[in-house]
Amino acid sequence: MRNIVAGNWKSNHLMGDAREWMNGMASRLSQRGAVEIMVAPPAPYLAMLASEAPVGVSVIAQNVSAHGEGAYTGEFTAAMLRSCGVAGALVGHSERRAMFGDTDEAVAAKVDALVGAGLQAVFCCGETLQEREAGRAEDVVLRQLQSGVLRLGADVLDQLVVAYEPVWAIGTGRTATSAQAQEMHAAIRGWLGEAWGIEAASQVPILYGGSCKASNAAELFHQADINGGLIGGASLQPEDFWGVVEGHPAKRTEA
Ligand code: PGA
Repeated sequence: MRNIVAGNWKSNHLMGDAREWMNGMASRLSQRGAVEIMVAPPAPYLAMLASEAPVGVSVIAQNVSAHGEGAYTGEFTAAMLRSCGVAGALVGHSERRAMFGDTDEAVAAKVDALVGAGLQAVFCCGETLQEREAGRAEDVVLRQLQSGVLRLGADVLDQLVVAYEPVWAIGTGRTATSAQAQEMHAAIRGWLGEAWGIEAASQVPILYGGSCKASNAAELFHQADINGGLIGGASLQPEDFWGVVEGHPAKRTEA
């Protein structure tokens, strides 16, 4: 099983900050145990960071074009990411779904673009507070998974990471309890199992995201179906991010 702690900087940090972050990470990496570290910086720094990143840090994008090459001003393709040494991309983040027109259809096309280019797709899903309170959380997440990833062939599962991020927990300081998170992660694991069989499904990492930080990471990461985290605010400073990595039980395991 892959254990992953991934940082999502969103629209934060200038290029100098990005370099400093990498330096701050480099000095700690020998202590990472069996934890894979990923970071999703803003697009302008991707090629530089991918070429300079220390071994043990995978650089991924926050987005990717749903299209191939051609007349799509402002977009960048999965093949372009690959040619820069970028390992993959987030797809379906709730901020992109809510503010930038990433419909289920667009998200599915982006997953296909990444998988087709041989890259990692870190697929984000999660319900809003309104949907949770209406008792529809599982329906919403299942629908997102069905259109985004459950239709993929079992041969590409090593390119898939699922991140469950309840929208009401993102950037709000209101973390899901470990029981709430585990309940949804177990449901997701079950749906993956129905699609590809229990054995294959057990190999797909399911990350939790939403106000995950050093003080709550360990409890979350010790849950049976939580294989790591997707970290926003607490990923910006290397010491905070490392505090989250410290909470992962796989940090104490040989890689
Ligand atoms: P947060 O963001 O950790 O700041 O809540 C998580 C995310 O949006 O991926």
